[in-house]
Amino acid sequence: MRILIIGSGGREHALAWRLKREGHDVFAAQGNPGIAQVGRVIPSTDYVAVAASVEPDLTVVGPEAPLVAGIVDQFRALGRPIVGPNQANARLEGSKIHSKDLMHRLGIPTARYHRAETQEDALKALADFAYPVVVKADGLAAGKGVIIAQDREEAEEAITKLGPRLILEEFIRGEEVSFIVLCDGKTALPLEATQDHKAVGDGDTGPNTGGMGAYCDGRILSREDSENVMRTVIELVVAHTQFTGFLYAGLMMTADGPKVLEFNVRLGDPETQPLMHRIKGGFGQVLMRTATGTLRGAALEWNAEPSVCVVLAAAGYPGQVRTGDAISGIEDCGAEVFHAGTRVGAKGLETGGGRVLGVTASGRDLRAAVANTYAAVSKIHFDGMHYRHDIARKGLKRWDADTIKASGT
Ligand code: AMP
Ligand code: GLY
Repeated sequence: MRILIIGSGGREHALAWRLKREGHDVFAAQGNPGIAQVGRVIPSTDYVAVAASVEPDLTVVGPEAPLVAGIVDQFRALGRPIVGPNQANARLEGSKIHSKDLMHRLGIPTARYHRAETQEDALKALADFAYPVVVKADGLAAGKGVIIAQDREEAEEAITKLGPRLILEEFIRGEEVSFIVLCDGKTALPLEATQDHKAVGDGDTGPNTGGMGAYCDGRILSREDSENVMRTVIELVVAHTQFTGFLYAGLMMTADGPKVLEFNVRLGDPETQPLMHRIKGGFGQVLMRTATGTLRGAALEWNAEPSVCVVLAAAGYPGQVRTGDAISGIEDCGAEVFHAGTRVGAKGLETGGGRVLGVTASGRDLRAAVANTYAAVSKIHFDGMHYRHDIARKGLKRWDADTIKASGT
């Protein structure tokens, strides 16, 4: 098939890499230098014009912005198969208020919340919440629209910064899990669960980012938990909205069971990188069945080996980013290196964005996958490069403890 990928990050490079390995012809708008190694890059955001010249059999949309702008409705009107939600359903990510209200209406487990339309209302509602309290802006904010306020003063500041339309939310505790499914309007097919690492620093310290690394291991969710989420979250949304595309439930696994923190209407980044590394094959066919409403009965095969992605970030990220630093050591580093924020400049391959590369590898178990990934990381260099040293460590700790218990020592 000729497959057009919309987007320019690590997620899109991982998709392109997977689909190329399956023998498809890959095109990307806008693409990046990594994607250019596996397909043809068209550096344009006029997606309708790109599709008219490429004539793809199938289009897959990476980021949320074109979805919220209505690209799926546009492509469908032109008779072009596309994987993604229509504009109305993209509001599940585009408006936190819309998304929380839908969860409330459908009885989907989520943190208790108050929707505020005015600053005055938000300040008054604070009295109903304990601290820390979570304050969320209504619209798309690229991960910067959520503030966890420790006391009244911080909460008032957050309300001023993010309001006036916003959500106040009860702070809930547990493990965060990214649960992503493919939907064709009627049927939903879950991908393996992944875990992202949002904070910039080791031990979940420092400001939040788009994601500093992720891993994919069959033990992140038990089969029972996964079926529970399908029943109590995903199937309700799909039945109510006829959702199409990737539906991503950001879950908190609490003592009272899984609760939804947010919905995204696309694949996660970096989650897609370990996911594409673990998937066995036939992904392109499953995407086509998603776009054509024939997902029922489809299955995905997964390699048993867990996979890990470590994001290498540029100087300053997630604040003011410095670009233009030369990148070396990617070739023969021993892992897949997905490009996120790179460009070709005077120095050859240079940093061109905040999250620069996603180094991704698998291993016979999670410990080996982590070791393989960091061994590759140690061979790559650019000035100002920083990354987390503890990707997947929580999973390792949890399961090592289980192993010890199981063996009775
Ligand atoms: P969101 O964009 O809604 O997923 O929020 C971004 C991040 O803020 C999440 O990944 C969580 O780490 C954190 N967060 C959001 N809502 C809550 C909540 N109700 N309780 C605890 N942490 C939260
Ligand atoms: N990694 C989180 C996201 O893609 O939103």
